[in-house]
Amino acid sequence: MLKGKHIIVGITGGIAAYKTASLVRLFVKAGAEVQVIMTPNAREFITPVTLSTLSGKPVISEFFTANTGQWNSHVDLGLWADAMVVAPATASTIAKMATGVADNMLVTTYLSAKAPVFVAPAMDLDMMRHPSTVRNIELLRSYGNHIIEPAAGELASHLIGKGRMEEPENIFKVLDRFFEQAQDLSGKKVLITAGPTIERIDPVRFISNFSSGKMGFALARECACRGAQVTLVAGPVNLKVTHPSIERIDVESAVQMHDAVMSRFPDTDVAILCAAVADYRAKNIADKKIKREHTDVPTIELEKNPDIAKATGEAKRDGQITVGFALETDNEQVNAQEKLGKKNLDMIVLNSLRDPNAGFAVDTNKVTIIKRNGKVDEYDCKPKSEVAVDIVNEIVELFNNK
Ligand code: C5P
Repeated sequence: MLKGKHIIVGITGGIAAYKTASLVRLFVKAGAEVQVIMTPNAREFITPVTLSTLSGKPVISEFFTANTGQWNSHVDLGLWADAMVVAPATASTIAKMATGVADNMLVTTYLSAKAPVFVAPAMDLDMMRHPSTVRNIELLRSYGNHIIEPAAGELASHLIGKGRMEEPENIFKVLDRFFEQAQDLSGKKVLITAGPTIERIDPVRFISNFSSGKMGFALARECACRGAQVTLVAGPVNLKVTHPSIERIDVESAVQMHDAVMSRFPDTDVAILCAAVADYRAKNIADKKIKREHTDVPTIELEKNPDIAKATGEAKRDGQITVGFALETDNEQVNAQEKLGKKNLDMIVLNSLRDPNAGFAVDTNKVTIIKRNGKVDEYDCKPKSEVAVDIVNEIVELFNNK
């Protein structure tokens, strides 16, 4: 899959830099063209000669080549690349990438690159855990960069913990898989609901839930990266969209979400109903703040919200797919199966609030996927970005079997 691909391998000054020689070798063996860019510090850990020999190209680490005065164009490099991998990525380079401090060739090229960027952090466990690093890695994720999580094990400091650069073979596999799957949703239109809805009671109060929208946003990104045109209908969440193939529509209430979805559903290949839609809304929204001085405790009369998943399931024509979610606290599989039938879904993604690190607000999730044909697949607890990969793989399988 990497044959003919142009890959920039960025190397920074960490002890794991010596391993990157094997990564370059693996890319070249697979038929890719590799351009190595090193930060000045990286040259203390591994020699440019090793890397230029393996890649078959002079290594770049300065803006100008000293003896010829030739300018190394970061813009041209950024356009040339089909992918950029920074491995190892030190805390310092990650911080520079996150904040745009372009004081070396590597970060300057990163800022110019249009291609997908993969970052393999490597550092001591305390640096890895520092809020600054955690935040910078989150920022890179929010730019759409792919973080290749470091492994846990013995570190150069002899301390044991998370911070060891992922093995070159695994970094290679991440890219290989990326290009293999890159376009398996090409030409497909995907409609996704995400986040909570909020239902007003009066001008200052509302009914809502703890949904963060993280799962739906991760799904939108995964679908877009795999070639789909995505419409993301989002309730009020604190998340950003960066991919150019995602159109975001912000809504507040279930009724607004329903209307946004139903007007677009006819022109959709797959609808992924991931939002935690409020089941009820206040029948009457007070136009003035409800006051504490009331003699009686106020009663809020509720009425039912539309079930968006059910409505799309009913409107579905041949060839369209609908995917629902079930967040359960008990009797999980039976309840999920029941919803699959009632809402005429093709697939339902179940997560249980009984599983620690699954469900609302956290960055990980543990799901079981149930298909209409009765097939049940249980997945391990993973970051939501990886859960999105599993869910989209299952959706692609549904398309292939249609
Ligand atoms: O019935 P329940 O709310 O548990 O079903 C969950 C599934 O239905 C999720 O996919 C959710 O997004 C969807 N749903 C919906 N509209 C509602 C309620 C739930 O689309 N009003």
